[in-house]
Amino acid sequence: MDHFLYRAGQLHAEDVSVAEIAAAVGTPVYIYSAATLTRHFRLFDEALGETPHLVCYAAKAAGNVAILKLLGDLGAGVDVVSIGEYLKAKAAGIPGERIVFSGVGKTRGEMAAALEGGIRQFNLESEPEMRALSEVASGMGAVAPVTIRVNPDVDAKTHAKIATGRSENKFGIPIAKARAAYAEAAALPGLKVVGIDVHIGSQLTELAPFEAAFTKVAQLTEALRADGHDISRLDLGGGLGIPYERSNSAPPLPVEYGQMVQRTLGHLGCEIEIEPGRLIAGNAGILVSTLIYLKEGEGRDFLILDAAMNDLIRPAMYDAWHDIVPLAEPAPGVEPRPYDIVGPVCETGDTFARARPMPPLTEGDLVAFRSAGAYGAVMASEYNGRPLVPEVLVSGDQFAVIRPRPSYEEMIGRDSLPTWL
Ligand code: LLP
Repeated sequence: MDHFLYRAGQLHAEDVSVAEIAAAVGTPVYIYSAATLTRHFRLFDEALGETPHLVCYAAKAAGNVAILKLLGDLGAGVDVVSIGEYLKAKAAGIPGERIVFSGVGKTRGEMAAALEGGIRQFNLESEPEMRALSEVASGMGAVAPVTIRVNPDVDAKTHAKIATGRSENKFGIPIAKARAAYAEAAALPGLKVVGIDVHIGSQLTELAPFEAAFTKVAQLTEALRADGHDISRLDLGGGLGIPYERSNSAPPLPVEYGQMVQRTLGHLGCEIEIEPGRLIAGNAGILVSTLIYLKEGEGRDFLILDAAMNDLIRPAMYDAWHDIVPLAEPAPGVEPRPYDIVGPVCETGDTFARARPMPPLTEGDLVAFRSAGAYGAVMASEYNGRPLVPEVLVSGDQFAVIRPRPSYEEMIGRDSLPTWL
């Protein structure tokens, strides 16, 4: 459940009318609900119960410093994949001992900066990366705590662009090579092995692929312990999906995920880390847009919005579905009609939905894309000269702009002219 509900016929974000925010900030605009972010973090935290654990929110899903601060204040750790995300987490007041650093291509500069600022662990993804980190850490007189991300060769049964756990994917070290990799890591002077990391993909709608992967991790834990390694932490990545299409999908709940983690890994006595992004932020955010034109086409009608693929790229990139609802609640019994819902960007890929049944709308009406909190604003760009979409956070009856829309002057002012032009 989220906190975007109709009240007296108007969509609200918690206790604030969404139309009121749109009037104050303009559209398109992302709006997040603090209560929903809080609720989703707590669901995971509670799902892991008595097991020693840390929920490391995947900052890539929605990385605004205000969102990181809200979650950090609740006790969350953060999973970062660049020094940019690391610095945002630090700016949000999250201590290094709650930050894990993932990603296939950490540079030496990033490694040094994270070691300098403090880090819980690096999740390493290749032998060359292990050697680089050992050199960097040794050069600083430090020892870096590490896990190695293993690739369990499991089909996550999700969109090909966000599946990461098959051997053909660039991620992790093949699980069959893991013992050799751990032996090498243990022998490197700048590394201290603390555990194992795995992440098989995103928007998983079944538990079975997780369970298959975690079962392999359990076996590997025992094998590595027999080899003499101190495996005390298991980082299980993120990936639990959300119901994008309210009418027909219900992925497993965090509590069911927690029970499965307990069942597959509980006997090992390890501290568990998880890195959920989408499930915490996805349904905690909406993208609000204005209908610019209703255009009658040949055999189809178009709703042309002021939001475009540069603001929300998921439909263009992953053929993703987002529920799109009017801010004014449709009267009961109103007959929906099919529309192609598009943005103003100059390519056909700028299509949010085809033949989507929508209640009658008129120009100037506002709509909201649901489940847009994760991988929405963070993937936005200024393509077609459209200033970066702003972000607003709501808590109860208050709201605040947490990233303003740049003015045209600011947008243009970021370009600079060479002296010879
Ligand atoms: N940990 C690692 C190492 C990851 O690569 C990811 C996501 C997560 C955690 C968080 O996964 P989540 O709980 O959010 O599923 N832009 C795509 C999703 C890309 C996911 C990338 N990695 C989309 O819009 O669907």
